[in-house]
Amino acid sequence: MKKEMILVTGGTGYIGSHTVVELQNAGYQVVIVDNLSNSNVDVLDGIERITGTRPEFVEADCTDIVAMRGLFDKYPDIKGIINFAASKAVGESMQKPLLYYRNNLNTLMNLLELMGERGVKGIVFSSSCTVYGEPDCNPVTEEAPIKKATSPYGNTKQISEEIITDVINAGAPFKSVILRYFNPVGAHPSAEIGELPNGVPQNLIPYLTQTAIGVRKELSVFGNDYNTRDGYCIRDFIDVVDLARAHVIAVERMLEDKSDEKIEIFNLGTGNGLSVMELIEAFERATGVKVPYKIAPRRAGDIEQVWADPKYANEVLGWTASTPIDDTMRSAWAWQLKLRERGIM
Ligand SMILES: NC(=O)c1ccc[n+]([C@@H]2O[C@H](COP(=O)([O-])OP(=O)(O)OC[C@H]3O[C@@H](n4cnc5c(N)ncnc54)[C@H](O)[C@@H]3O)[C@@H](O)[C@H]2O)c1
Repeated sequence: MKKEMILVTGGTGYIGSHTVVELQNAGYQVVIVDNLSNSNVDVLDGIERITGTRPEFVEADCTDIVAMRGLFDKYPDIKGIINFAASKAVGESMQKPLLYYRNNLNTLMNLLELMGERGVKGIVFSSSCTVYGEPDCNPVTEEAPIKKATSPYGNTKQISEEIITDVINAGAPFKSVILRYFNPVGAHPSAEIGELPNGVPQNLIPYLTQTAIGVRKELSVFGNDYNTRDGYCIRDFIDVVDLARAHVIAVERMLEDKSDEKIEIFNLGTGNGLSVMELIEAFERATGVKVPYKIAPRRAGDIEQVWADPKYANEVLGWTASTPIDDTMRSAWAWQLKLRERGIM
């Protein structure tokens, strides 16, 4: 029997598409809404090739409340929402703060308003470890203080968490699970879907694989004089499929009322910090492919080191990020090779 219908905003994007696959594999019906500002509609073909099911798709902008009302009229059975739709480039958010505040906050506020009207039971929200800023100590638990955001993008995540909390504390009849992602990397092992931002990648791995295949000349590694074990920034790189699986558990938790809490917050990471250079080495070791890189000056706003304490998610959700980094690097490379084979990149 099919499970409930879930609306996935931003579902043709990187993390969204992997999550749609896991939702469909778990038996959920999925409606995607995406304005394709940072993704391509062909992603639906990849999802269908993996799962055998083509998700429902509505091309619309979540900031457009009229379009969103129309979507809920068409799919009145939506019981849960996963909200991935957002603009996410830190640097761009410094140049265009209003675009970020408008897109990320109006999207969320429209969804919260419609959830109340349409009897939706819960919303999973994509937050980020950026809320912790430069943490006082690592690994970071959910109790770590929220630091003043260093970019409008980061600020939208902090404000979004506050908006959700205020709306639910004011008595809204739904629940929320806020997931703070560390650094998602890799692709689906089938190489049918992966990370393919429109334009020049702002994230490390697509830039790295595009450099390795010759689309870009060299990868810039920003700063080698940080106060870390090898001088490079340290992050918690989490496999995107592991990350996607956590969303299915979060949805189930809300829809099946497995917790008495109306709002829950979880860190999603591996618990291991890897430096940017260690990640490049892992890629080269796993694939046998060399990555041309240069050391560039530090980039303003970059955090020196941050990695998760995922114990709370491990214990409460029964979830762990278990994919070895070498497998993740191989999946990222297989995806890049598939893009080349298809003449896309
Ligand atoms: N990738 C990361 O490193 C990372 C880390 C922490 C948090 N996040 C958050 O996770 C979420 C998903 O990130 P991603 O990496 O998959 O990004 P992505 O850009 O690949 O996916 C976002 C999708 O949302 C769509 N979108 C944007 N604004 C929209 C709007 N107004 N209406 C409809 N669709 C819209 C885009 O076209 C895109 O398909 C975002 O909220 C992001 O901030 C990402």
